[in-house]
Amino acid sequence: MPYISWDDKFITGIRLIDDQHKKLVNMINDLHDAMMIGKGKQAVSKVIQELVDYTVSHFSTEEKFMIKYSYPWMLPHRSEHKKFVDQVSDFQKGYNEGKISLSIEIMNFLKDWLVNHIQNTDKKLGPFLKEKGLS
Ligand SMILES: [Fe+2]
Ligand SMILES: [Fe+2]
Repeated sequence: MPYISWDDKFITGIRLIDDQHKKLVNMINDLHDAMMIGKGKQAVSKVIQELVDYTVSHFSTEEKFMIKYSYPWMLPHRSEHKKFVDQVSDFQKGYNEGKISLSIEIMNFLKDWLVNHIQNTDKKLGPFLKEKGLS
């Protein structure tokens, strides 16, 4: 069983966003696997970098939609994104410098953040974009 199982309750109704969320779930699962099998630091670093890059590009997809359609809750949504990127970047820096290790606490933080953000924040954006004609 994967660390995070995709659940239909994560669906926002916007295909591009849902596909990107599926990929993020897979990437967090890959990082969890890398930790569990004790992959080396270089390999883990690479997985973390890929996760950071993909997260940034996913957030930018959502933010472009929010700007384009003048989403009224854009500011708080965007600040959640920014805070997460800052936290993950701090972890990444600490990991690369050998000051922090990849632990189940870190994994749980990533998982809980993603699951909560999708269910509470992205799921508000989905219906709004649907009303604007997106699918
Ligand atoms: Fe979001
Ligand atoms: Fe999202």
